[in-house]
Amino acid sequence: TDRYCLIGNPVAHSRSPAIHAEFARQTGQQLAYETCLAPLDAFAATVRALRDAGYRGANVTLPFKLDAAGLADTLSARASAAGAVNTLSFTDAGIAGDNTDGAGMVNDILCNAGFAIEGARVLLLGAGGAARGAILPLLEQRPAQLVIANRTVATAEHLAATFGGHGVPVSASAFTAVDGRFDIVVNATSASLAGALPPLPPALFGAGTLALDMMYAADPTPFMRFAGDLGATARDGLGMLVEQAAEAFFVWRGIRPQTSALLAAMRAA
Ligand code: ATR
Repeated sequence: TDRYCLIGNPVAHSRSPAIHAEFARQTGQQLAYETCLAPLDAFAATVRALRDAGYRGANVTLPFKLDAAGLADTLSARASAAGAVNTLSFTDAGIAGDNTDGAGMVNDILCNAGFAIEGARVLLLGAGGAARGAILPLLEQRPAQLVIANRTVATAEHLAATFGGHGVPVSASAFTAVDGRFDIVVNATSASLAGALPPLPPALFGAGTLALDMMYAADPTPFMRFAGDLGATARDGLGMLVEQAAEAFFVWRGIRPQTSALLAAMRAA
């Protein structure tokens, strides 16, 4: 049995072990996946101990995604662009770092939510780690336009400058100054954690808008309620969670698990 785990702090309430157990059952793969609480000052030592104990890889969650990017011997292109790693593979050649968060988000939008990104007007809220990881995977889908809005506009401007040159116009904005209607709005701020909502113009949202919050909780976030009241399709981050796990499973095992039945079961539970 090949062993994997999720390293984080806190990590006890993660749903990833159940998700990977279902993927393993479904694909007939012999693997175990558990959580691993790393002390805040001992992430690197924790990773090395797992590798030395024979683990094949690990997922990484808050607050260690940047540390994981610094620790990995090699980075995939998408991990390098994100500046963050959520998937480590322990190989004979060293520790390989990848990032499946952005691909998971794109797959959730395309396959689960059923919205097209190609040709769409896309608004990304936030300019921290979660937002940064989403940008390149979104641009690869050829949207018509990407606007990055953030509380601190200078950070959004920096990201817009960094990710220009991919053939898609990328611009920065303050929340209140975002203009027009959008097809897809992704909330990558941590405002929902605090029960807060960025000050967005209502005209951004309409009946054809997908409003995707990266957070998930038992109840809809303030962002989801605001967008839903304006006619948008409001979606939480549970689908992204399942899809980033499926992508990590593929990175490790070379097999892509089915996600739709699992996602439906998790929503029903
Ligand atoms: P993460 O890893 O979740 O992206 P982060 O890197 O700390 O966390 O980034 C948090 C993001 O949420 C930032 O874009 C932050 O805005 P600032 O750059 O201005 O700090 C945004 N954010 C946090 N709290 C917010 C709030 N109450 N309203 C709006 N944006 C908020």
